[in-house]
Amino acid sequence: MSTFTAPKGIPEYYPPESADFLAVRDALTEAARRAGYGYIELPLFEDTTLFARGVGESTDVVTKEMYTFADRGGRSVTLRPEGTAGVMRSVIEHGLDRGQLPVKVYYTGAFFRYERPQAGRYRQLQQVGVEAIGVDDPALDAEVIAIADEGYRRLGLTGHRVEITSLGDSTCRPAYRAKLQEFLRGLPLDEETRRRTELNPLRVLDDKRPEVQDLVADAPLMVDHLSAEAKEHYEQVKAYLIDLGVAFVENPRMVRGLDYYTKTTFEFVHDGLGAQSGIGGGGRYDGLMAELGGQDLSGIGFGLGVDRTLLACRAEGIAVGDQARCDVYCVPMGEAAKRCLVTAMGGLRAAGIRVDLAYGGKGLKGAMKAADRSGARFALVLGERDLEAGSAQLKELASGEQRAVSLETLVDDVQAAVAEPLR
Ligand code: HAM
Repeated sequence: MSTFTAPKGIPEYYPPESADFLAVRDALTEAARRAGYGYIELPLFEDTTLFARGVGESTDVVTKEMYTFADRGGRSVTLRPEGTAGVMRSVIEHGLDRGQLPVKVYYTGAFFRYERPQAGRYRQLQQVGVEAIGVDDPALDAEVIAIADEGYRRLGLTGHRVEITSLGDSTCRPAYRAKLQEFLRGLPLDEETRRRTELNPLRVLDDKRPEVQDLVADAPLMVDHLSAEAKEHYEQVKAYLIDLGVAFVENPRMVRGLDYYTKTTFEFVHDGLGAQSGIGGGGRYDGLMAELGGQDLSGIGFGLGVDRTLLACRAEGIAVGDQARCDVYCVPMGEAAKRCLVTAMGGLRAAGIRVDLAYGGKGLKGAMKAADRSGARFALVLGERDLEAGSAQLKELASGEQRAVSLETLVDDVQAAVAEPLR
């Protein structure tokens, strides 16, 4: 047994399966790139106050799940639990909001939440996110949702759906909140839930206990109390989604885990994952930039869970990544052949072919086994007699078919073979 183990609740991805992780991440980011989002690389930790204020003091994320510590200078810092607050901080700090709007950025990487680990719920999770800041246009809301949908489709997923709702704006939300509180105060709720009613009444609607669900079945819903403007905005988002061919389901009882949401809010759900069915989520956050000390600009974005999307692919039996480490595996017989192949590999790699070699003086049998394990399509075998004849043997491992390739035209010949479709 090794002395060290990875921290609890953290998924690791290593070869060959890590290829699937990369394929998922790349498919999701590609969808964002195609819609004109630029890459933003942000710190993994920030001033604790940024998240407390940005994500919301009463959220589970802030009260229970943050990795917060004092650095050696005595500052309180927190490993980022999500990406939006950091993006806003960066946009404000670097004045991106003074340029052309909307500011469209995407990011990918690890986020940290001290949650109870279980299948699909981790303490280090990976997201691909986008944020579009500075233009409050319902077409932009629809674009953001469509990008996520396109990313999932690109992977071949079909078992997902997007649920949407509107959480209202600063004109209608306070009145609705009061109405909901009034309703909740009339219910026989336990003390903790009553406290939540005063602090964050929307969250009570999200209580998973069946007895609470029964009690709140008739609670007033935000969508029935939208201001005329928020309602019109929501209707337009839905119309654009229909134009874009993105099927959606309205879920007026949706509650998100972060407090900054306004108006359009959405979640991508996959039924093959059990309890942790949310593979992505996002929405509009029109007050956030001002709250963080910037201009009063609107914003919308999403965070897609790479880990959970990978689980969804597995649940659907979709093989997404190329798990082969290389295309060609070189098998030298003897020192002279090895020297020749080591040199040849440089040329093959420069030509874009993935090549590895049986290092360590393996015999033919061991080397061919290693070739199989590498996932390569071809073994390039060079013996002493081949060397004298100026050629090597290129063997397709699956079919066993073998052909001689000239050492002089090796790169071209191997490149042509690699490009041949599989029979
Ligand atoms: P979120 O809903 O908290 O939103 O997280 C987005 C996605 O990250 C979730 O749908 C889920 O797939 C994944 N995720 C979250 N927590 C975990 C976990 N513990 N283990 C595995 N996966 C997890 C946000 O983070 C917002 N910043 C999204 C956003 C961007 N809204 C506007 N812009």
